[in-house]
This record gives sequence, C-alpha cells and structure tokens, in this order.
Amino acid sequence: MHLLRTGAFLRAARSAELAVHGLRASVPASCSQSRWSSSQVAAEEQRPFPNQSVEPSREVDPNKTAAGSKEDSVQADFKKRLQKLGQENKILHENLSGAKILGNPYIFDETSNVSDSILNLVGRNLYDIPDHPIAITRNLIESCFPFPEFNHFTVKDPVVTVKDNFDVLGFPADHPGRSRTDTYYVNSNHLLRTHTSAHQHAAFQSLVAEKYVTGYTICADVYRRDSIDRTHFPVFHQMEGAKVWGLGAGESRFLAQTARTAKIAKQLDALPKTDIEVEDQATVFSKENNPIQSEHDPVELQLVVKHLKRSLEFLVEQIHKAAKESLDPAAREAFGPLKMRWIEAYFPFTTPSFEVEVFWKGEWLELLGCGVVQQPILNNAGLRYSIGWAWGVGIERFAMLLFGIPDIRLLWSTDKRFLGQFSRGKITRFEPFSKYPACYKDIAFWINPSPAGASPVGAASSATSGVAAAAGGDATKASPAETQPAAFHENDIMEVVRDVAGSLVEDVKLVDEFVQPTSGRKSLCYRINYRSLERTLTNEEVNRLHDEVAAKMKSRFKVELR
Ligand code: PHE
Repeated sequence: MHLLRTGAFLRAARSAELAVHGLRASVPASCSQSRWSSSQVAAEEQRPFPNQSVEPSREVDPNKTAAGSKEDSVQADFKKRLQKLGQENKILHENLSGAKILGNPYIFDETSNVSDSILNLVGRNLYDIPDHPIAITRNLIESCFPFPEFNHFTVKDPVVTVKDNFDVLGFPADHPGRSRTDTYYVNSNHLLRTHTSAHQHAAFQSLVAEKYVTGYTICADVYRRDSIDRTHFPVFHQMEGAKVWGLGAGESRFLAQTARTAKIAKQLDALPKTDIEVEDQATVFSKENNPIQSEHDPVELQLVVKHLKRSLEFLVEQIHKAAKESLDPAAREAFGPLKMRWIEAYFPFTTPSFEVEVFWKGEWLELLGCGVVQQPILNNAGLRYSIGWAWGVGIERFAMLLFGIPDIRLLWSTDKRFLGQFSRGKITRFEPFSKYPACYKDIAFWINPSPAGASPVGAASSATSGVAAAAGGDATKASPAETQPAAFHENDIMEVVRDVAGSLVEDVKLVDEFVQPTSGRKSLCYRINYRSLERTLTNEEVNRLHDEVAAKMKSRFKVELR
C-alpha cells in the first residue's frame, strides 16, 4: 500500500490567474499548540507566492495561438468553445478533444486519460466546508503547526505540470507513479496532482520573503487511479508541512552555521513533551540505507531529525487524544495507550526519510511520510542557506479513524443524514444509518496481449520494486497479468467501473485467474459489488450498469468476454 492514500500526488496558471488559482494562505485567528477550535477556521487571506517561478503558463492560452494554418484556426476555435462552456468542468469531443477544468481550457493528446467521472469531482473543496470531517481534521492538523511560525495554504486548482509533480522533486523517469495506469493526465504536460508535494517548490519560494514565518502547511485534493474499495477513492486529500532554518548571523560560514545549529537545538527544547510509547527503528543513517546529504553537518542533521520526529509525535498524540475524547467513558477505558513507531522510508525529495506507523486494532498502520528536504529543492527555491524538514499525510485515513467512518465514499455524500452529524471543532463518532442492499456481479474475460489503452507514459511502466511509492504507483500490483505485462492493468477495469457506475460500486475484487495451458492466454474474473449509500438499486439498473461495464471493457481494452 502506498503512502497517504490513506490510503495509497500537480499544475500551472497564467500569471494573472495566480491570485485566483494559486496558493492561498489561511491565517488562523487564534492558534495555540494545545487547543484547537472552530475559531481557527478563519477567512482565507489571499497570498499568492512572490516571485512565482513555477512555470507561469497554462499550456492552452487562447491568446497565444493566433491562427496561422487551417489547423491553428480549428484549434483556436475549439479553445474558444471550451472557454465559453457554461460548466466549470467539461470534456468536449469535436474535431479535437479537450476539457475545461475549473474554467481553464486544455487540449487533449495521446497521453490524456481524465474522464468525466473524475472531473465531476474537481472543485468540491471538502476541506473548505467547515462542518465536514475532512475540514475538521484539516483544522486539527493545522492547529499543531500554528501561525505565525507556519502559514496555512490551500490550492484549489488540481492541474499542475508534470515538472512540478515529478521532475523538480527528483522522481526518476521510470518511477511507477508517472505511469498512465496510476495517474490522471490532462495531456502530456499537465496532470491532476498526485500529491501536495507538487506545490513544495512554490511554497518554499514563499518563505524567502517572510520574516517570522519559517514553515507552511498545504492542504489540497489529490488524484490517483487506484483500486475500488472502502478505503480507496480516486480523489482524496493530503496535507503537507515543512519548516526551514536559515543560516544564522556570524562572521564566518562556520560561525553562522554554529548559530543555526544552536537555534535548532533551542527550538527542539521548546517543543511540547509527549507521553507516547515510541519505538524508533530509524536512528542509524548510512550511505546505503537512508543516507544523510553530503552538505549536511551530522550533528545539526540529528537535531533537525529530532525536531521533525518530536513535532510529528505531538501531532499523533493530539489526534489520539481527540479520538479518545470522542468516545463515551467506558469505551475510553478500552482505548489503551498510544503506541507508535518510526521506520525508514524512501522519497525522492527527502533524505533521510521516515514513516510513522501506529498500532491500531491489532495491526501497524502507516500514517504519514516525512524526511529532511533534499538540498537542491531548497536551493532552487531560493533557500540556499537553509536546512529543513517536510511531511505529508492523507487526511482520509485520519478522518476515518477519528470519526469512525467505515466507507470512504461517505465523505463525498451530500446526504443530510451524513453531513448533519458533524460540526466544526468537534470529533464525534459516526452513527451508521441503514445500509442499502448490495448486489454483486462477476465479469470474466481473456486479456488481449496488447491493447492500446494500457500503455504507460514514456519509460514509466517498469515497477522499481515491490515497495510503497510516493506520489502513487503501487509497484506491488503493477499488473495481475505477469505473462503479458503490458496487456492489462488492474486500474483499467477500476477506471471503467468508475466511469460507468461512479460511487454506486463499493468494491471490485479479482476472484479468479488462470492461464490456459495450450494457448498461454490468461483469463481474469472480477467481482463488482454494487451498492448505493443512498438508495436501493433495482435489478434492472444493476444489469444495465454491468452490461455497460462489459461493453466498455471490450471496446476500450479489446478483452474477450467469457
Ligand atoms: N508526497 C508524499 C506522498 O504522497 C509524502 C511526503 C511529503 C513525504 C513530504 C515526505 C515529505 O507519499
């Protein structure tokens, strides 16, 4: 399972639009380390990044493509049509195809794989609805990293460049997260961010001009093609935090560095103490294993790591306390002490890197990823003389644990029986309302060896290893069809099911697979569990949906139905 999906990670704006679509900072009216309340849900203050060097161009700027050839005029005309469309999000097919996303026009190319079902979820901004569990959880996390030490950003527009989502963060060309089977591409230059880290560069740049602010948090919706089950949804929410220390004053570099180290030590000392049982399995850094960066002084590095770990231990403790307080007194007793552990991790943009796991209902649960920021990232953002840490969490995992929400689809519900249960600043246990009956149906098919639809982008198909992948791309389930690796990816059927049935499907599971000995062909059988959270589905309705899934599997992936 990859990180922060919590399950399993972003692009550009014309400079004039930055104020609208760029990062916005919400400045809490009152924040203290130990208290959080609805008063922190303050009005957002617009704070676009200064000196934005994140490529300030939407690929489709209708003014830039003045008609020269016939083709150009077709394109210009098409873009105008896209611009005029009433809805904010819309796919259009006509000579050319393209989409309007939050009002901005994009032209599709051979890499595009966004669908109406995904675009319909863009712009819901659940983290901005004060009484929604996602927003309540966001505020709880933000309160542990208070203003004015930390600015709090949200980024509404999920379209970012491939450069910001992957390249500037040091993702190798063959990282599985880049694959079209794992990521929603708007076109070859733009994608729906797969993690909030896509905004790291811009957020670090924003710190250059700050006097008192030395860190930030970013909250946003992120998009990953993934399996369908109760803990996975193609859109989820992440929060990312970072903190830097600039070079202190001193006559020489050495003295300045000494002053910086002293400052980190002092701030470490001032962090609130926690009362958690912590097991640390990631204290040794070696070249092969979780290396420290060559430009970092080992003593100072240790302090930065300690500061990072203590800050996150505090966060975990606050979350645990809030969860416990939401229970009735008898259940509180049984809640037990909080147990957490640090393990080594790998992210292209941090080293050393770590993950936090907590012991929850008998198993270790991955909660968040973090590490010491790769120096080139800080250098490129204008923070050459700074050292810093960063972390990222999936909000859904926290929210589902905190509120006892059993199915991730509920978070997207507009049903009053769901939304009416929560109010800002309060953690309350979800009261299940009646479940409507489920209806499952199987679909079995032979995979065609090389359908066009499942091709990865560039060299991105090869899974690096069976490990968790930052920014998506779970290498452990790259393909259920080992014998025909490029033929079919499990996420393909997930996408078809999502397009056809949206949130009327609870889960999709592989129930049977076999290879025919004589032909070597592979057969797969998936069980689709249809269930609405809001009503009873009729038999005819489910049959119609299932027939459509079958027809789309056949036409899109050339599978042979059995
Ligand atoms: N972006 C990473 C992910 O989605 C999480 C992360 C953020 C890790 C910041 C380290 C630092 O998995």
